[in-house]
Amino acid sequence: MEVHVTVDRAIHPWRGNVGVVTRLIGKAPFDHLNATAMVCGPEVMMHFTVLELQKRGLPAEHIFISMERNMKCAIGFCGHCQWGPRFICKDGPVFRFAEIAPFFGQREI
Ligand code: FES
Repeated sequence: MEVHVTVDRAIHPWRGNVGVVTRLIGKAPFDHLNATAMVCGPEVMMHFTVLELQKRGLPAEHIFISMERNMKCAIGFCGHCQWGPRFICKDGPVFRFAEIAPFFGQREI
């Protein structure tokens, strides 16, 4: 496994990558047919990360996203974490992208 790190703003003596994580995806050496992506972070970042991964040819079945949201009951009762037809607390929080693609990135869902 290789770990690539980037920061939003660099301060001395940082000499590594600077900028959004999606800039690293094009440089990352991987075989799109044998790779699996595990994505977590802010929803907007995950949205653009998935787009970049798909540009590299990674199938939606090979992309997993972690949809953390505020939860209250954590047992599928209150509806606080409802996301489309799913409940993050009981159906996730990790989803295969192929399963949730239709409502991923939609606002107010
Ligand atoms: S936290 Fe209550 S339904 Fe998920």
